[in-house]
Amino acid sequence: MQTKYDTILVLDFGGQYCHLIGRRIREHGVYSEIVPHDITAAESEALNEKINVKGLILSGGPSSVYEPNAPRIDPAVLELNLPVLGLCYGHQLIAQIVQGKVSRAACREYGIAEVKIDKSVGVLKGVSAAETVWMSHGDTVSALPADFEVLAHTESCPVAAYRNKQKPIYGLQWHPEVVHTKNGVLMLRNYIFEVCKCEANWKMEDIIEKMVKEIKADVGEAKAIIGLSGGIDSSVATALAAEALGDRLTAVFVDHGFMREGEPEAIREIFSKFNINFVMVSAQQRFMDKLRGVVEPERKRKVIGEEFIRVFEEAAEKSSAEYLLQGTIYPDRIESGFRKNSEVIKSHHNVAGLPSKMNFKKIVEPLRDLYKDEVRKVAVMLNLPREIVNRQPFPGPGLAVRIIGELTEEKVAITKKADAIVRQEIEKSCIAEKLWQYFAVLTDTKATGVKGDSRAYGYVVAVRAAESREAMTANYAQIPYAVLEKISTRITNEIPQVTRVVYDITHKPPATIEWE
Ligand code: XMP
Repeated sequence: MQTKYDTILVLDFGGQYCHLIGRRIREHGVYSEIVPHDITAAESEALNEKINVKGLILSGGPSSVYEPNAPRIDPAVLELNLPVLGLCYGHQLIAQIVQGKVSRAACREYGIAEVKIDKSVGVLKGVSAAETVWMSHGDTVSALPADFEVLAHTESCPVAAYRNKQKPIYGLQWHPEVVHTKNGVLMLRNYIFEVCKCEANWKMEDIIEKMVKEIKADVGEAKAIIGLSGGIDSSVATALAAEALGDRLTAVFVDHGFMREGEPEAIREIFSKFNINFVMVSAQQRFMDKLRGVVEPERKRKVIGEEFIRVFEEAAEKSSAEYLLQGTIYPDRIESGFRKNSEVIKSHHNVAGLPSKMNFKKIVEPLRDLYKDEVRKVAVMLNLPREIVNRQPFPGPGLAVRIIGELTEEKVAITKKADAIVRQEIEKSCIAEKLWQYFAVLTDTKATGVKGDSRAYGYVVAVRAAESREAMTANYAQIPYAVLEKISTRITNEIPQVTRVVYDITHKPPATIEWE
């Protein structure tokens, strides 16, 4: 088993595609880590104890190199004798550091652009004389020192790509990681394999073995506990821990009452087959009591997150476990504090994790280096049931953030029914696999209707179906009208309190996927 992976470090300048760069590299069997942009040369070298750092990529970012507090790099990073590729902001930053000239572009280029390739070498080996690429920039590199050469230009951007003539330092003004750059994959492959000479030695099979070994080494002969939500991450972490620890593991499933119809029963059924201790805590009443009168979405999330922790603490105390396992994945880790200047849009209650003051010797996070789709591959390799592998992402606070305004038992029951209908109809119509999520939202608007021969005044249910790759952005899905009609008819017929069904046609951004 390979223990040290050839690795590309991605220096994060806050660009929205930063994670995409990491994913694209890993898709080629090469490991990649996102690191803060101000990692020092010494810190980068120290990483070689665990991984083989073979090259660096400087991501894009929202800043201008002219801003007084613009993020920079330790200039010694360029002297590490490692290949460096700057993308967009990274491209401009390298140019500025080596005393080239970066100017405000006369007109911003945003979207698809055509670049003329002046020299197809290195990162651009094998590309055509003209390439379609994805650009998004306000500044532009206008001149380079003599030891650099221009590899591509556009009408308004004289230095759209460059390289150093002696050292493997490259810059691309465009984003090869975005699908709209037609030959983006080829460009990244050129960098990974031709320039950095990486070996594709990051294999899923090895990773499973490594994670099980790590859990065994961390927990030793002691007992451990894991919070199991039934989502793919905690389910995969539980399956790995079951293999490592067997009945020294206790999985705790907290039913807060906002799970989807049939879900708690399905989770019990699946995990009771594992050779572990499975505890289901029915805490519906506790949660509902805490949420009386709570309307504001962030407050709702906080109340649920806190109560979840209390229930979990009580369960942990009973199991005399010394270790806590969590299904934290790579983007969670980055988004909860590792990334600088990132804004809190919503408090994800099961993302920030459980409080460190809980009395555990260690928190073990076997999936900490994996992306969601990699976790899904692991789930398939572990033979987890299809309903877990294909389960839609589901927020920790559950249906509570899909019920606008104050929660009541009646509203929860309506939402469960409506959600079940949306799921059934979409799954019947075979469009489910193209969708990231599909669900019902109970709005706090009421509307007039006519049911039978009488006037009715009832709730408005919104249906949301979104396509996405990583949930950072999403498109509302153009699902067939016939399916929407079936959903609407069933919801208004089968749920007496609902008079109207609407379809949410908002992308993310500006909307988020969940309503609260
Ligand atoms: P938004 O609504 O922010 O959601 O566009 C992005 C993705 O995250 C899921 N989500 C959550 N997942 N705990 C989670 O584990 C949470 O508190 C939470 N809130 C939203 C959401 O379903 C979507 O897939």
